[in-house]
Order: sequence, then C-alpha cells, then structure tokens
Amino acid sequence: MFDPKVVRKDFPILERRVHGDKPLVWLDNASTTQKPRRVIDCLVDFYEHHNSNVHRGVYALAEEATELYEGARAKIAAFIGASGKREIVFTRSATESLNLVANAWGRANLKPGDKVVVTEMEHHSNLIPWQLVTQATGAQIVPWPITDDGFLDLEAMPRVLDGAKIVCVSQMSNVLGTINPIRQVADAAHAAGALVLVDGAQGVPHLITNVAEMEADFLAFSGHKMLGPTGSGGLWARAELLDAMPPFLGGGEMILEVWIDHATYNEIPYKFEAGTPNIAQSIGLGAAVDYLNDLGMEDVRAHEIEIVTYALDELRKIDGLKVFGPADPTKRGGVVSFWMEDLHPHDLATIVDTEGLAIRAGHHCAQPLMRVLGVPATSRASFYVYNTHDDVDALVAALGKARETFARGGGLPF
Ligand SMILES: Cc1ncc(COP(=O)(O)O)c(C=O)c1O
Repeated sequence: MFDPKVVRKDFPILERRVHGDKPLVWLDNASTTQKPRRVIDCLVDFYEHHNSNVHRGVYALAEEATELYEGARAKIAAFIGASGKREIVFTRSATESLNLVANAWGRANLKPGDKVVVTEMEHHSNLIPWQLVTQATGAQIVPWPITDDGFLDLEAMPRVLDGAKIVCVSQMSNVLGTINPIRQVADAAHAAGALVLVDGAQGVPHLITNVAEMEADFLAFSGHKMLGPTGSGGLWARAELLDAMPPFLGGGEMILEVWIDHATYNEIPYKFEAGTPNIAQSIGLGAAVDYLNDLGMEDVRAHEIEIVTYALDELRKIDGLKVFGPADPTKRGGVVSFWMEDLHPHDLATIVDTEGLAIRAGHHCAQPLMRVLGVPATSRASFYVYNTHDDVDALVAALGKARETFARGGGLPF
C-alpha cells in the first residue's frame, strides 16, 4: 500500500537538515524533484562500470552503454503509451523538446498569416520558442484565454481554433495546477485541421499519461520533474510527423551520408539526436520510470489528490490567503499557488525558508498568466510522492510565523 512516509525513506536528501537543525521540507517539486536512491545508484553504476559513448563503438562498453540507453528509451515509450521507441527523442529538458518542435516543425510548416494557438497558462518554454518562430515565418500567435476559476475557456475554443495550424497547450499548469482536457482539445483541433503540442512537463510526472488516448501529436516532458536526473527529458511525436520534419540540430549521429555541401539524415529518432546525447541522464530517467512504475501511477495520483485536498482545506483556513486555480482537487495536480495578504511572495518564501521549507515565489516563467491573475508573482507549494500531511502542517505553521513576524501593511492587489 502506498505510504509517503515509507516512500520518503528512498530519498537520501530528505534526511537533510538546513539552517542548523531544521528538517528539510521540500515543496518545490514543480521546479524539480528529489532523486530516489535507485536513480542515484543507477548514475553511479553507469559511470563506474559502463561509461562509453553510444551507437558508435564496437567494444564491450559501447555495446553495454547503447543497450542501457536504448533500454531506457523503451521504458519511457511504454510509460507514456507510445507505439514504439522510434517515437521517443531524448532531449535535455522539456524546454529543448518544445524548441525542437517549434524550430523543426514550425519553420518548415508555418507561413505568413498562419495561426499558432498558445494558452494563457503556458510556461515561457511553450511560448517564447513560438514567438521566435512566428517572428521568423510571419505567422501569428493567438492567445487562448482562461476562465476566472483557472480553466481553459472552452467557449472560446471554436474561435481560437478557426484557421489554426497548431495548438500549444500544457497538460497541467505549473501555476494553477489545472489539468487540461487534452483529448477534447485534440479532437477539436484535429477537426479544425490543427496539430496539438502538449507540454507534459508537469503532467507526465503526476498523471497516468497515454499518448494513444490523448490523441495529441507531440508531447514534451522533463526528466528532472519526475525523479530523474537534471539534463534528461524527451519528446514523443507521431512517427510520421518526425519522419517528415527536418532535423533541429546538426552534427554527429544524426546523419547517414555526408558530402561537403549536403547530407542525408539518419532514421528517427536519431535524426533528432545530434552529437553525444545525455547518456547517463537518460539511463537515469529510465530508472526513475522503473521507480514510478513500482509505486504505481494510480497510487501516485491518488496520493496527490489526497494531499492537495488536505493542503487546500488547511490553506483556506488562513485569513487573507487566496489560492489560485480550480477549487476541485480532482481537476488539478499537485501545485498550489497562493497570495498572502500583506506579504510579498519573495519575502514569504525567504521567511519560510528559515523554517526549513523550500517553496517557490515569483512569476514561475508564466508572466502572461500573472497579468491575467492580476498579481506580480505568487507563492507556490508543490507536492509529490514523498510529501506528507506533516509537510502541509509545517507550511501552515511557517505561514503563520511569517504573518506574525513580518506583516507590514498593504492588501490584496485585486
Ligand atoms: C509547464 C512547464 N513547462 C516547461 C517547463 C520547462 O521544463 P524543463 O525544466 O525540463 O526545461 C516547466 C518547468 O518548470 C514547466 O513547469
């Protein structure tokens, strides 16, 4: 049976104390997650026993490293329900995956006047690459608004999809926690002739994700937000799209034959993996996927609903604290953003840090969304498999202490 108190024993860093004797309370999982012993051991084992480049050598270590690397690709393909490992491109991060789509697909397919739909809740990683590519191609960005309660405005869907070439939508918002109805969006987008790019940086770590059921065209994900190493991540795309797309980066391994003025390219996914890839990190991501599979993604999600329900109940008891995003915990992930009257989020995060709690304050790489919410920044606590009710209680106590010690006048900015 899933028990976060047992799960947390697998994470050596959670034994840490900070600021003297304060136990570390890690509540910045939407930024990055901690690593279980199994992932750390996997990295050490790779560097101690198997370190080699992949796909190139004929010697024993090269074959071992290649087998581990390709094995990790197969694990990730199965984890997200891809039809095969040809559809998984290893990248450094969700950011790199989103840039890959914007550059490789966008530059080849967008022309002046074309519409690229981007939701108002997108992370800058799923916005700025499209700004760069629309500026270069003459296409235009169409914002998809959100409702006051933090959902995509589905009434606006027919309007924004009209004439769209691609829809860029996050599976789960890193600020509001909102889980977006990807299948519904994909069906409507396809009916309107548009492709769908899903930013799964927050969704894939927390939700049972099946690309076949989602019916999207691209899914970007991040390894370090799902217990894997930093520098790991990937892109899933339908094979026929990857086949048709030009390469993103050029260099070794992504070619078949090279002449001085032209080249032919490798088959997918290698066409998109130029140079020496992040070998150890991708193998470590495979170990993280094994770990999540052993926990069971249904239990991971059930735990998240349970702890977010508790956190929302407790936070709502605090006077002058406003929580953003959907009220229903089953419609949101493990991200809880809030504004506390009289305290700027940066001051708040600094104060709670002195109690050993790591929470995030700022615009969370979502400045357009901050404008919609009418705040310069929010405080954000984000939960994962090792967080317990004790962590929520510690947060509530630290917020109380912050209010007592540092309140300094002012009110809600809305
Ligand atoms: C929704 C969302 N998209 C993209 C990213 C970028 O992910 P990465 O750190 O893997 O580049 C983040 C990171 O915070 C995110 O929350």
